[in-house]
Amino acid sequence: MVQGALREGALVGKTIVVTGGGTGLGKAMATYFSELGANVVITSRKLDVLTQTAKEIEEKTSNSVLAVSCDVRNIEDVERLYKEAADTFGGVDILVNNAAGNFISPTERLSANAFSTIIDIVLKGTANCTLTFGKKWIESKHTANILNIITTYAFTGSGYVVPSAVAKGGVLTMTRSLAAEWGKYGIRSNAIAPGPFPTKGAWDRLLPGDLAAKFDFKNRVPLKRVGEHQELANLAAFLVSDFAGYINGEVITIDGGEWLQGAGQMNGMEAIAPEMWDYIEKAIRENNK
Ligand code: HXC
Ligand code: NAP
Repeated sequence: MVQGALREGALVGKTIVVTGGGTGLGKAMATYFSELGANVVITSRKLDVLTQTAKEIEEKTSNSVLAVSCDVRNIEDVERLYKEAADTFGGVDILVNNAAGNFISPTERLSANAFSTIIDIVLKGTANCTLTFGKKWIESKHTANILNIITTYAFTGSGYVVPSAVAKGGVLTMTRSLAAEWGKYGIRSNAIAPGPFPTKGAWDRLLPGDLAAKFDFKNRVPLKRVGEHQELANLAAFLVSDFAGYINGEVITIDGGEWLQGAGQMNGMEAIAPEMWDYIEKAIRENNK
């Protein structure tokens, strides 16, 4: 069981909004931020889920958690989200753009609306939150930071999740662009690219039915395991904290080496049985003669 990495009270005095904070990785981050003393605001479409999560976190940490329903695709919702968070806690210091929509499908099966739905949640939703919060921070000269949760296929691309890959690629570009443009306002922008971290939301849509057994993600990972939620929460807490005050425009991959395993041309040689290497070496030396 992975432990929390930051010192007690590391986020005291910070107000952090986590989109998609009621479930999965958003919930794990929100819980750890609250444990570290932050005022946490969790938001998504389903208020009942958020309210339950807020209650669970408050019981665990004794710090207050505000649940606000908001569809990140809707700019009026996002403006109300900022207002409710700021009215409750006196301002917002950190935005974690974690909300996402995704499902696997051959791209040619997608309707135009299916494609747009994913782009609207992931790319436009992130833009809606970033713009709304960023404008407030710039106007009030408030030092702040943004953490975007992307994926490793934001840099490699991936079949069967093309709208998500396109949208996450856009979010990565937004991260780097705003790091340069908004650094002068004291606003940092960073991203985390997670590999496989089992959550119900992702697994139901990416590996439904027996696909989870057939495409066991841990077999793709050099470390031969999936990620633990606390490992991601530790990285997120560090990146949003003042300890990372000079990190701006960075994307940190946390995937046990998964994407490099897929990228390196010869990595498939792992399939060669250890006892074969004597024979292979001998054959190469023979050829050298
Ligand atoms: C083809 C589909 C589809 C499917 C939906 N659609 N599911 N098309 N195959 N499996 C189509 C619909 O028919 C519709 O198009 C359009 O998509 C919108 O669907 P709605 O159900 O109306 O949308 P909505 O209610 O807004 O729901 C959004 C959603 C849903 C994305 C479809 O799954 C959702 O709410 N997801 C939120 C949580 C989530 O996705 N979590 C996983 C994140 S994992 P038409 O043309 O019929 O109107 C992740 C990282 C993965 O991002 C990396 C892991 C390693
Ligand atoms: P998840 O539990 O399904 O999280 C997605 C969250 O987004 C949900 O809480 C959902 O809540 C919210 N959401 C969806 N549409 C929304 C909208 N229109 N407005 C507001 N909120 C919305 O899945 P997860 O695995 O934890 O994913 C969290 C993040 O990690 C995502 O950005 C995902 O792309 C990324 N990621 C995950 C993995 C992984 O292995 N799990 C790997 C790489 C990247 P509602 O339904 O209530 O709106």
